[in-house]
Amino acid sequence: MFYQTFKEKRHKLHQDFYDTVRDLAKHPVVRQMRLFPQHGDTNCYRHCLNVAFYNYLLCRLLHLDARSAARAAMLHDLFLYDWHTHAAQTGEHFHGLTHPRTAYENARKHFHLNPTEKDVILTHMWPVTPLAIPHTPEGWITIFSDKYCGACETGHRRKLPRHRNTANHRKGNHLS
Ligand SMILES: [Fe+2]
Ligand SMILES: [Fe+2]
Repeated sequence: MFYQTFKEKRHKLHQDFYDTVRDLAKHPVVRQMRLFPQHGDTNCYRHCLNVAFYNYLLCRLLHLDARSAARAAMLHDLFLYDWHTHAAQTGEHFHGLTHPRTAYENARKHFHLNPTEKDVILTHMWPVTPLAIPHTPEGWITIFSDKYCGACETGHRRKLPRHRNTANHRKGNHLS
């Protein structure tokens, strides 16, 4: 009985999350992120989905703007290149510093961003970008979610909710 209720609540949580980010996750520009590796065997698209989910979960628990936090996280690494080879190909050696702005500029071309979403994307690399300090609690949550997901992905650890950890999810196709 208790387990059934837990499963139902978990399913509802995932459904609410997918409803929040589905339009972004299906957008062809966002889906381009599947082409670019991020941490470990994770591509940028899946990394953004992971961060978006934890942002959504934490912000809901803390009664923050879970919708903006999840949607901004879905776009936070929309820089659209392979950062592993970017410096050699372009001579631009400061991906860690510059990609929040690149992601923001790409995102704003295709989506309306509210002030919270803008803050989340532009400040998610703090303290690497010491002057880009979050002005919203959602921004601080994102810094945690991004680093937590990055560490799990780098360590090849599956920290995704079990029912999402499918072959389709690994390919980033589960929302299609
Ligand atoms: Fe990033
Ligand atoms: Fe990230």
